[in-house]
Amino acid sequence: MYRTHKLGELTARDLKKTVKLSGWVHKRRDHGGLIFIDLRDKTGITQVVFDPVISPESHAMAESIRNEWVIEIEGTVRARADGMQNPNLKTGEIEVEGHQVTLLSKAKTPPFPINEENIAIQEEARLQYRYLDIRRGQILKNLEVRHKAVKILRDLLDDVGFCEVETPILGKSTPEGARDYLVPSRVHPKNFYALPQSPQQYKQLLMVAGLDRYFQIARCFRDEDLRADRQPEFTQLDIEMSFVDQETIMQLVESILKQVFSRVLGKNFDKVFTRISYAEAMETYGCDRPDIRFELKLHRVHKALENSTFNIFNEALTRKDAIKTIVVPQGERISRKDLEDYTHFVQKFGLGGLPMARFQGGKLETGIAKFLSDENQSLLKTSLNLQEGDLVLFGVGNEDSVNQAFDHLRRDLGKKLRLYDPEDYKFLWVVDFPLFVPDEEGNPTSAHHPFTAPNEDDIPFLGSDPLKVRAKAYDIVLNGYELGGGSIRIHDKDMQRKIFSILEIDDESIENKFGFFIDALSYGTPPHGGLAIGVDRLVMLLLKTDNIRDVIAFPKTQKASDLMNGCPSIVSRHQLEELHICVEDKSYKK
Ligand code: AMO
Repeated sequence: MYRTHKLGELTARDLKKTVKLSGWVHKRRDHGGLIFIDLRDKTGITQVVFDPVISPESHAMAESIRNEWVIEIEGTVRARADGMQNPNLKTGEIEVEGHQVTLLSKAKTPPFPINEENIAIQEEARLQYRYLDIRRGQILKNLEVRHKAVKILRDLLDDVGFCEVETPILGKSTPEGARDYLVPSRVHPKNFYALPQSPQQYKQLLMVAGLDRYFQIARCFRDEDLRADRQPEFTQLDIEMSFVDQETIMQLVESILKQVFSRVLGKNFDKVFTRISYAEAMETYGCDRPDIRFELKLHRVHKALENSTFNIFNEALTRKDAIKTIVVPQGERISRKDLEDYTHFVQKFGLGGLPMARFQGGKLETGIAKFLSDENQSLLKTSLNLQEGDLVLFGVGNEDSVNQAFDHLRRDLGKKLRLYDPEDYKFLWVVDFPLFVPDEEGNPTSAHHPFTAPNEDDIPFLGSDPLKVRAKAYDIVLNGYELGGGSIRIHDKDMQRKIFSILEIDDESIENKFGFFIDALSYGTPPHGGLAIGVDRLVMLLLKTDNIRDVIAFPKTQKASDLMNGCPSIVSRHQLEELHICVEDKSYKK
């Protein structure tokens, strides 16, 4: 037995007990005669004292001990001397008088201090020695919250009749909009498995199979550009239900989110889930995942700007480009320097610049104000409901660039001007997504994925104007993050075939890629639908971190590599040969 107690457990109730403790040496202090060792495990720290008078042998041993060595000690619990108590430690009233020390494992000097949580360490070093980074404490706590959240989700779904089913990792590609990670087959030369971008088709097939209510804590793999809230492999809480409508699924999700937030955060969490349409979200916030903790809405001001003498506006109106504004209340908080920075910021999204004017003394002054007629002024004043001190920022350019730039600008202003309480949570459902969005050439691609059912009212437009068709799809957004998304699915094989043909997938490809799936739909398919919540993002939001790597034990970098073990990495030529793969690189390892 290595220990009788963990290191955050002993209190004054344990005085005089003989105990055995094991852990890492957090700190060692040599006070002349006495040596103090703070011994640490994940539950806390216990102070152990070695006195040369009481136990000369163990004192001598303690002299040689260094930080991060793993030791076992035996001793007696005693009260700390008056004034030496540490109210910041769970065990701060007591210490253990050490009688015996056993060395379990020595440690090299770590690449960064483990015993100081609050010092900044380069993330590269943290990722390279991730096991030491976890040992520092914060990530370990995050992983425990993650465990708790997942356990709560599992229990909640089990309670309402869901069955957890594992689906294959080696599978056939499911289109979710990213590139696939491929795995070559040794047994079938030239053939590849695809790692799942999501278990979408499998979960629908489970509905055909009669599972009725499925869930899975599912690993998903997507080869896409990475961001602070994206990893190449991530986890979803994946849900699918038979004989349901959109409303039932949304109610279930609201209920489980409320419960997981209240149980993890330990406080009542009876939040209102607001709903807006995709069209309104794009118009008002410039994105489909707005942060609604603050206002700062976008306003289209075409009408008010007609006949101004500002060429940029006039040219934009002629080109039918977008002109949207953000009105910053008490705009004096934004300095000239800030405005310069924001101009560079929006230019990155393709805007020419950031025209502005300030509302002072009842009218717009400075910036582009001189180009505005009295009529422009008065229309802007009423349509934007301008108040003294407001700063009006104008975004001019094509619709997508203005939306993107002003979405980012809005988020940045909201944060900088502290327009919301960072502790707050505001949920939002975005509904009525389009079924298709145009690709770069203007051709329809799936806004979610090709298994999403069209809104019945819009089915007549499928042939004539597919971009006009709304989907039975919904996203759940929290504080500006897309937390999850789902839809009612197509359960009719002919409709499914039709959608593939609108996506210009030729018959042969439909047969090769989805033939089995369409065939399955023809054996009696219940109406069904579901949703997937990003577990990593959920935990990020619970923990109020904006870095997804903080909630993953062994995350990848922005370039999808693991700095700890160096993957992806070169493999031996022999392995490649077995997989029938030929790499045209002479330097490749023999
Ligand atoms: P979707 O593609 O919207 O839907 O994914 C659902 C949720 O998964 C999370 N997510 C990610 N998290 C971290 N890193 C990533 N690269 C990443 N990509 C997605 C997000 C997202 O909202 N099969 C459908 C769901 C369905 O229709 O039921 C799907 O995967 O939080």
